[in-house]
This record gives sequence, structure tokens and C-alpha cells, in this order.
Amino acid sequence: MTTSSLTQYFMPRIQIDVHTDAADLDAMRSELRAGLLSTPRTIPTKYLYDDEGSALFERISELPEYYQTRTERELLAKYAEHIIACTDAQELVELGSGAATKTRILLNVMHRADRLRMYVPFDVSEGIVRRVAQELVLEYPTLQIHGIVGDFLAHLEHIPNGGRRLVVFLGGTIGNFSPTNAVKFLSSIYRAMEPGDYFLLGVQLEADVARLEAAYNDTAGVTARFNKNILSVLRARIGADFDPDTFDHSAVYNRNAHRIEMRLRARYPLTVYIRDLDLTLNLQAGEELLTEISTKYDRPRAETLLAAAGFLTQHWYTDPHALIGLALAQKPI
Ligand code: SAH
Ligand code: AVI
Repeated sequence: MTTSSLTQYFMPRIQIDVHTDAADLDAMRSELRAGLLSTPRTIPTKYLYDDEGSALFERISELPEYYQTRTERELLAKYAEHIIACTDAQELVELGSGAATKTRILLNVMHRADRLRMYVPFDVSEGIVRRVAQELVLEYPTLQIHGIVGDFLAHLEHIPNGGRRLVVFLGGTIGNFSPTNAVKFLSSIYRAMEPGDYFLLGVQLEADVARLEAAYNDTAGVTARFNKNILSVLRARIGADFDPDTFDHSAVYNRNAHRIEMRLRARYPLTVYIRDLDLTLNLQAGEELLTEISTKYDRPRAETLLAAAGFLTQHWYTDPHALIGLALAQKPI
């Protein structure tokens, strides 16, 4: 064995950085207190995703009603060659990477072009970052993985510096922000990138209301379980004695705000004690906790967001039914 092949053999190909420390515990408690006491009562969406929540989202992705994931996968399959050819990237950074199933389409094209050096999955859900890293080093024999477990609202500066990068944010997760917060978030991504780097943003587009509501109210009840899982996460993280069976799942399209709003509604008057916050919540029958917004865009509104953050949109890809949009944008040189 030569020195270089020895180095390649023994060099750890996976590094995972976990950004949860005492300061983050305090931050978690104060954001949950603020959310639960606000009007409407709100639980930040990222708490949907522990190991169970990530597994439930993977099941949602396969549901007949949830057209979003398969449509985005088809779009990527069609345009990945074009996207990669435009970018010149050797590194792929993915925010909210989850199971990284669709990501493989991009990784395959980079690998075939002998351009794949590094993948940086960034997700709040630790188990899935570790699982994806283990899977991908087996699938791509020379790939380095530098996973980041953290909150992309707080820890973007921990993305490692590297070569020419393509940053991707898929699944329509940008829809979880209000348009104002989306611009702020896109601006923070822009600041974390180098001039010349590319950004691929997946957005969910406006669609027929019946189709949209069906996607969030599947007949198998998986989305309801996914939504209620947030209560189990709060039980584990802050000792909240929520009983998921005392809440109903609700997901309704708000036409004015162009978004699905997902809530948990108390079936009857409830008292919930939250040990770590030393807080008692008295909920009336029918009172709701907002757990997710999922904003739907059109091309002009998506491009306006990107431009407001400083990006130059170079290509827009969509499917024949215009359900999903993929914008390929660049941080100008
Ligand atoms: N990109 C995948 C997964 C989308 S689900 C796809 O397109 O299918 C949204 C993902 O974002 C989940 O994996 C969730 O854990 C992650 N996520 C949500 N909020 C986050 C946050 N604040 N910081 C980091 N990751 C977050
Ligand atoms: C990841 N995110 C954009 C999904 C969505 O469509 O809003 C999460 C989801 N919530 C319920 N079903 C799927």
C-alpha cells in the first residue's frame, strides 16, 4: 500500500459535530416558554423532528397524498445533470438534510463527473445525520462526510470552509418560515457562502386547496401522528405532561397567507404542567397549538425572496403541473 492509499484507508471519513450545550438548553427553554405563552400558542416546528419524527416524515414522503417529495425527486432526476454542470461544485452542503434520499440524485451526478469530495448534512435530528453518514460512506467510497447536528437558525457558522460549494435546501422547508423570516434566513445562508457558490432552493407551489389539504390530512393518519409526536418530544425534553390522545390534528389552508397551518387542538379543557419551565398551562376546549406553517409560493414570489437575500437566480425548474419549483441561484462573484 502506498502512503496515500494508507492515508485514505485509515483517515476517518466521517466527522459529526453536535451543537447542543448548556447555553442551548437555556435557549430551548426560553423559546418554548415564549412560544407556549404567545398568541397563538406556538411550538417551534423543529421540535417535530426527533428520531421518531424523522421516521414519520420519511413515511409521509411515501404517502399517496403527499405528492411533494416524489415530484421534487422527479424534478431532480430530470435536471441534476444541468444543475451540477452549472455549479462546478465539489462539495454539497444540505440544510435540513433529513434522510437525504433525493440528495443521492445530485451526489450520483457529482460522483460520475469525479467531482464529489465532501457532503455536509446539517440537521437538528442527530440520529438521522449519523445514519445518513454511515450509509453514504458505503455508497461513495471516497466521499468525506462532515455532519452538523444543530439548529440552522443558530449554527450556520459551523459549516466547514471548503472548496466550491453547492448549498441545497429542499423539500419546501423554506415554507416553514413566514416570508419575512425566510428572507432573514436566506440572508444568513448567503453570508455563510463564498462568492461564486451556488444555492438550490426547493419550494412548494400554490396548488388546488383540496389537493393541498389532502396532503396534510392523509387517510392513514401518519401526518396526525407526526404532528402529535411534537408533544412526546416536549415530554422528553422539558418534562411537559401532555397526553397526545387529548389533542386532535388539524391542517387547514389559509388562502390569504398562502399556507397550510398545522395545529393540535385540545379536545376538552386541559391542564398541562411543564416541569422544566415550572409552568402550568390551562387550555380551553378547542384551544390550539400552532406547530407548523408550510407556505406555498409561485415563481415571482420565490425569486423575490432570493433577490432580497442577495442571490441571483439563474435557472428555474418546475414539473408539468407546477407543483414544485427548484431555483438555482448564485452568490455573485
Ligand atoms: N430535506 C429533506 C427533509 C425535509 S423535512 C427532504 O426534502 O425530504 C425537514 C428537515 O429539516 C427535517 O429533517 C428536520 O429535522 C430539519 N429541520 C427542521 N428545522 C430545523 C432547524 N431549525 N435546524 C436544522 N434542521 C431542521
Ligand atoms: C418539510 N416540510 C416542508 C414538510 C411540509 O410539507 O411542510 C413537513 C410536513 N408537515 C406535514 N407534512 C409534511
